[in-house]
Amino acid sequence: MSRPIKATVNTTALSHNLGRVKALAPASKVWSVVKANAYGHGLARCYQAFASTDGYALLNYEEAILLREAGVTQPILLLEGFFKPEDLALIEAYQLTTAIHSDWQLQALADYAAKKPIAVYLKINNGMNRLGFSPDRISALWQTLKTLPAVGEITLMSHFARADEGPAFIREPLQRLEQATGMLQAPRCYANSAASLWHPETHHQWIRPGVVLYGASPTSCAEDIAPFDLRPAMTLSSEIIAVQQVAAGEGVGYGHRYMTTTSQRIGIVACGYADGYPRHAPSGTPVWVAGKLCKTVGTVSMDMLMVDLTDCPEAAIGSPVELWGAQLPVDTIAQAAGTVGYELLTAVTQRVPFTLIA
Ligand SMILES: Cc1ncc(COP(=O)(O)O)c(C=O)c1O
Repeated sequence: MSRPIKATVNTTALSHNLGRVKALAPASKVWSVVKANAYGHGLARCYQAFASTDGYALLNYEEAILLREAGVTQPILLLEGFFKPEDLALIEAYQLTTAIHSDWQLQALADYAAKKPIAVYLKINNGMNRLGFSPDRISALWQTLKTLPAVGEITLMSHFARADEGPAFIREPLQRLEQATGMLQAPRCYANSAASLWHPETHHQWIRPGVVLYGASPTSCAEDIAPFDLRPAMTLSSEIIAVQQVAAGEGVGYGHRYMTTTSQRIGIVACGYADGYPRHAPSGTPVWVAGKLCKTVGTVSMDMLMVDLTDCPEAAIGSPVELWGAQLPVDTIAQAAGTVGYELLTAVTQRVPFTLIA
């Protein structure tokens, strides 16, 4: 028998979530964001669950090529664009759509002799201050791009820094975008998950949701997405592999950061930070054990963590444990550990076997 930890990916949940997002933005096309190995769910495993998407958005050529060689015919968008001028040949060969965010990329496109024009996403830096051209340059850049034989359709792209924080944080960036691009006859693609859920005025021709497709919240608060009927796609589960009856006043785990105050039944779970469970999750982080909500105690070890079984007397060696997933939102664990669901989903390590269910 192998170690009992596993990650289960529910492909029906993935398809369902895409359907929910489409229903929220019926007039827009959807780029399903599958970067970071489909947010840790496994791109090769998951892309077919998004078969009804209008396009796939990602970062790596390896991932783009995997999709093309698997027979994907929808557009594939490189969210960070190309990294070297010579990459344009690959972009053309695999018919990829590329973002451009820097002058050297514009020059590379001007210098490139394409047999077939390349679709381009012109990235506008709209206060995120990460990638993109400043809004006051967009009109001129758009005019220049239109003159380049290597350039096909041009879409205006931007990314909101604070779309998960309410309408007040969208109004100003949206106005800035409108001022800079209002005159341009071009499709637009601005909305990530948060904007897709909460700011329909940002939807335009294309939206670019990521984390909601996997059933997690852009705010890392599970209640925030409850009205949208999204389903968690990944469940990280394991089992109790040992039980200790620990006397009152004893320490549990490394550093004895948890001390019992009464005699306590402690379950040892085969899951630790080397599986991707956050070491910073404090005592009291929820864990689902044998159908009941329990709490972790002590410091998470490399391969194990401990749970208080006081309220779950029926739990024993072999009892099922859910670390996050169908019963326990990943966002709840992320909040307890001071991080975001995105990080936990993408951090499940290679030693954890993945299984697909439909
Ligand atoms: C450019 C871009 N678009 C879309 C997304 C999707 O974001 P989310 O997962 O919040 O929907 C990301 C993710 O970071 C991104 O960097």
